[in-house]
Parts: sequence; C-alpha cells; structure tokens
Amino acid sequence: MATTLISGGTVVSAIGRREADVLIDGESIAAILAPGHAAAYGIEPDTTIDATGKYVVPGGVDAHVHMSLPFGGTVSADDFDTGSRAAAWGGVTTIVDFASQTVGLDVRETLAARHEEAAGECHVDYAFHQIIGDVNETSLEAMTHLVENEGVTSFKMFMAYPGVFYSDDGQILRAMQNASESGALMMMHAENGIAIDVLVAQSLAAGDTDPKFHSYTRPEELESEATHRAIKLSRVAGNVPLYIVHMSASEALEEVSRAQHMGLNVFAETCPQYLYLSIEDHLAQPGFEGAKWVCSTPLRSKHEHHHRDLWKGLRMNELAVVSTDHCPFCMKDQKELGLGDFSKIPNGMGGVEHRMELIYQGVVMGEMTLERWVETCCTTPARMFGLDKKGVLEPGADADVLVWDPNSKTRIGIDDKHHMAMDHSSYEGFEVDGKVDTVISRGRVVVQNDTYLGAKGHGKFVKRGLNRYIH
Ligand code: URP
Ligand code: ZN
Ligand code: ZN
Repeated sequence: MATTLISGGTVVSAIGRREADVLIDGESIAAILAPGHAAAYGIEPDTTIDATGKYVVPGGVDAHVHMSLPFGGTVSADDFDTGSRAAAWGGVTTIVDFASQTVGLDVRETLAARHEEAAGECHVDYAFHQIIGDVNETSLEAMTHLVENEGVTSFKMFMAYPGVFYSDDGQILRAMQNASESGALMMMHAENGIAIDVLVAQSLAAGDTDPKFHSYTRPEELESEATHRAIKLSRVAGNVPLYIVHMSASEALEEVSRAQHMGLNVFAETCPQYLYLSIEDHLAQPGFEGAKWVCSTPLRSKHEHHHRDLWKGLRMNELAVVSTDHCPFCMKDQKELGLGDFSKIPNGMGGVEHRMELIYQGVVMGEMTLERWVETCCTTPARMFGLDKKGVLEPGADADVLVWDPNSKTRIGIDDKHHMAMDHSSYEGFEVDGKVDTVISRGRVVVQNDTYLGAKGHGKFVKRGLNRYIH
C-alpha cells in the first residue's frame, strides 16, 4: 500500500500540540513519529508532504448537514456530490446527514432511500442520523433495528415545524424511552413550534412579513422552554443521552448548563451562524435580502449577549460541538418562495465549507484554544456520534487529515472561496486568518495547492457505534 509522510508540521490534538511527523499507510494512520525519525527507522515514503510552519489536525467532522433535503416546497441546493465536495474544500472529511421519516412513512424505507441517494455520490465519508417524525410501534421497532444493525445510532426529533416534522411530548417520550434501552442518542430541535405558529400568524396578520420577523416570531424564550422540556423528558426517559442541535440563545444554553451540573446526559451544539451573524447585520437587511439568513433556530440580536455566551459555552464545554446545519437554498426560485411572507422562506443556510475556517478565527480572536478548535470540530463530534476511526490522528485511525496554514488568509464569498451550490454566500466578504492547505480523506489527497484532486464515489458510508461519552 502507498505510504505518505506529512513532515515538519505541528500535530494538534484535542489535548495538546507537538512537532511530529504523521505516517500514513494506505487508508490509515500508521504512526506519529518524532520529527525526522522516519528515515532513522528506514521508512521511505512514496510521497512526502512538507507541513513546515503548518498545523496538522484530524479532518473535520460535520455532524449536522442536510444535502438534498425536501423542505419548504423545495429541496436544499447541495446534493451529496456538490455538498460533500464543498466539505472537502473546507477540510471536512466526514459528514453526517439525515434519513427522514415523516408521518405515514416507514423508517427502514426512508433509510434505504437515503442510502440510494448517497451511494457513489460522496467525495468524503458519510453517515446518517435518522429523523423520527411518526412514532408508532413499527417506527419504535425500527429504531432498535437501526442501532443494532445499520450503524445509525442517533435520532433527531422536532419540537418545531408542526405538520412537517413535529412530534408532541408523548411521542418524544416514547422515542426517548426506546433510545434509553438501545443506547441511542436523541437529538432535539428544541423550539416550541405550536407557540411559534401563533406568533407567525399574528405577525402576518399585522402586515409584518419581512424576513426579520422570522426571528421575532421565534423568541429565545421558545427555544429555552423547549430545551428545558426536552431535558425533563430525557430525564423521565431514564437519563437518555440528549443532544440539543443548533443552539442559538443564551437562555437555552443556561438550561443545558444547569442540566449538566445536575449530572444529566445532556449535550449541545452550536453553529458558526450563531457565533458570527445577527438580526441587525444580516436578517434585517433591507428588502428581501435578509431571506439569505432565514434559518431555525433563528439568528439573534447582536445587542443581547447570545454571541458572547455561545463562545463561552464552547470554552466551558457546555457546547461540545460545532456543526453547520448546512442546508443551503438559493435566493432565486428557492428563498424567493417567501417573497411577501417570511413563513414561506425555506429555512436554512449553507456553511459546510467554512466551519473550520470560521472556528479557527475564534482561536485568533482569543475565544478558544487551538486544541479546543480540534476538539469541537473534529474529535468530539466523532466521539459523540460513535465514529470511532474519525476525529483523531493516532495509529489505526482513518487517514483523514487537514494540513492548515496559519500564515495565510481566506476570503469567503461568491467570487472568492465558495464551492457550495448556492447563488450567494452566507459569509460574503468575511476575511479570516488561516487557510486549508492540504486535505486527505482516507489516505487520498483531495485538496492541495488550491486544486481539487478528490472524486465522487471516494466517500464511503460509515456505520457508527454508540455515543462514546456514555457507552
Ligand atoms: O433552518 C434549518 N435549520 N433548516 C434545516 C432543518 C433543521 O431544522 O435542522
Ligand atoms: Zn433543526
Ligand atoms: Zn438541521
């Protein structure tokens, strides 16, 4: 098998950094060597990558993406091909997407259909969570089957989107009880969708139809209330591990923090949009422009303390993971569906390509350490979701590697760095420190010298184990 030596770099893990060389043999990491020791051991690699002055970190793991998601009368703009390629451009070597069961559908069939959609399309490795939108005896049995046989060990449910993905408290409790027995992780979209729908109807009736009203009708109280309720339900269900997705609000974070202090198995993620974007600077832009940033949970006000608190939550491990919730929609023909009625704007924004860049900027800004960047973007998402060969650089792990150049800059924007299938960038004009230098996916160089060397079909489905913080 072909060997590659990444030499001269600083290897950064979740717990430290040191000068070291990384030896890859085929698809796996073979050894981490003291600098220059490969020659001393008589190793003559087929290829050497010079990482002098650069950081060598595990490939990113984005545990929350939606390729080709049917939503809001349209389908998210990136498919598995374009979306996983954009991920690779961003130093992400594993994505976790969703199979989606809604009312009347069979869980196993929805998973099989998702497998068909993704097979042979992906540029980097991928896995699935299962959305449960119709709790009944058959779907509960299927949940156990997925955990035991299919490598799908986490289930997302929605307290939002009545009539689409929504489940009531009884349904959620039943699914949680099932997960408690099988060892699965429950993921929750925590917003009170029933109350939100009342506010939306009142807003539209008052003529308040612009994109910014998307956020005003989803106040933080309705995120924190749902978070609180999800936590209580998880406790009743035997302290089943609970993972709150796309957290945007300080009050909701407080609920998570309190639960963690009580010893409950509660985890949470946030996303770059909640750390950098705001109602004032983005969602409330004049005219229909703000539609670009309609997502749920919504962007919050920069005059409150959400952004600051979320960074703090990341430092303190109240927020364990940064994912993107990548769910891109073009303005043309997609976001435009909500012209004159914000409630019809498809919810979601794209970012799978920019998570490593944007969170590294948090390191530069002093919001977190280099190690914490690796931990929240690579190592913890892998452990959280049972991706046992991902998220670390150690012998036996998959050779998924990102060589990061801290001395270059990245300019994000539709005419700059942008490889997602959207007609705009959510981060237009952002210039951040650092740059993706080289990306290796299971031993194959997929990005180098600003050139794409990967291929559709290289990415393989990964069966996942259980959450490694509990099991
Ligand atoms: O706005 C969002 N987040 N769209 C994707 C679906 C979801 O709720 O995760
Ligand atoms: Zn969601
Ligand atoms: Zn999502």
